[in-house]
Amino acid sequence: MQSTFTELVSLDKTKMSIVEDILTLADKYKENVKKGVYPLKRLEGKKVANLFFEPSTRTRLSFESAAKNMGASVLSFDTKSSSVVKGESLKDTVKNVEALGVDCLIIRHSLAGAPARAATAVNIPVINAGDGCHQHPTQGLLDIFTLRQELGKNLKGVKFLLVGDLRFSRVTRSLLSLLNPLGVEVWAAAPPTLLPAGLEKMGVRVRKDFENALKEADVVYMLRIQKERQQGGLFPSLKEYASIYGLNEKRMDLLNDNVIVLHPGPVNIGVEMTGAVMDHPRTLIQKQVENGVFVRMAILDLLLKGGSCNNG
Ligand code: NCD
Repeated sequence: MQSTFTELVSLDKTKMSIVEDILTLADKYKENVKKGVYPLKRLEGKKVANLFFEPSTRTRLSFESAAKNMGASVLSFDTKSSSVVKGESLKDTVKNVEALGVDCLIIRHSLAGAPARAATAVNIPVINAGDGCHQHPTQGLLDIFTLRQELGKNLKGVKFLLVGDLRFSRVTRSLLSLLNPLGVEVWAAAPPTLLPAGLEKMGVRVRKDFENALKEADVVYMLRIQKERQQGGLFPSLKEYASIYGLNEKRMDLLNDNVIVLHPGPVNIGVEMTGAVMDHPRTLIQKQVENGVFVRMAILDLLLKGGSCNNG
């Protein structure tokens, strides 16, 4: 395993060899944890800090669970009761957390670039847990891990349809950093106002015929409508959006038998998909969440222990 992995801020700056190391190690941890074998001593004595300046359920708990599976202790931080409300700067906050003897910072922030800025202020690894509309590297990695579990290691030529709010989606940007080098054929279907400029240059083919694209896709990735990031007025109403781009049981019937439906969560139920689609056997949202823990275990191992892959 390589030793030059010192932070995970953006996947467009991460070498594919490191991505492979993460996914290989995550595989090993998945196998072991399924057998009930937890590497509880692997990160014993290490301290990890979860600094979430923006709400999160699954990502925060997933990092916490990954760290605890490996014996690390976790410090958590709630913006509302921290000195951030007194105007403490990000730089000050992270330097103080580092001074507490923390070994790794996991940062989610509503401003794009905040984790990169924090990384310049401290001498410990920083993991980006989602920054504004920029990147969400661990989500991109867990999605690729999930695809490989379902479709095999070689994803070349897989037809991957991204649906919805690509414009405000950090998940999209992280996924594109991986899908293109892996040779996946990426399509997008969305109202034009939710498509970022220059999408074709990013290797994405825009499909105006959503239902035909559904019929041809191997993977359908439904993106959350990011109500908190929109100025409003980008589409007439959520109801109309759902009627044109939502997945419902009727549209599920158009999909091929082995299709995989993914969503990073949290789902706006009845907007991106109906409750029935969430429970459909081809919808693997729970598997994404489950796999996220193994991928984050691998990342923490590689950053804090060099990933030599053994238990203990
Ligand atoms: C994503 C996020 O917060 O960026 N969710 C997550 O981390 N599971 C996706 C989203 O909110 O759209």
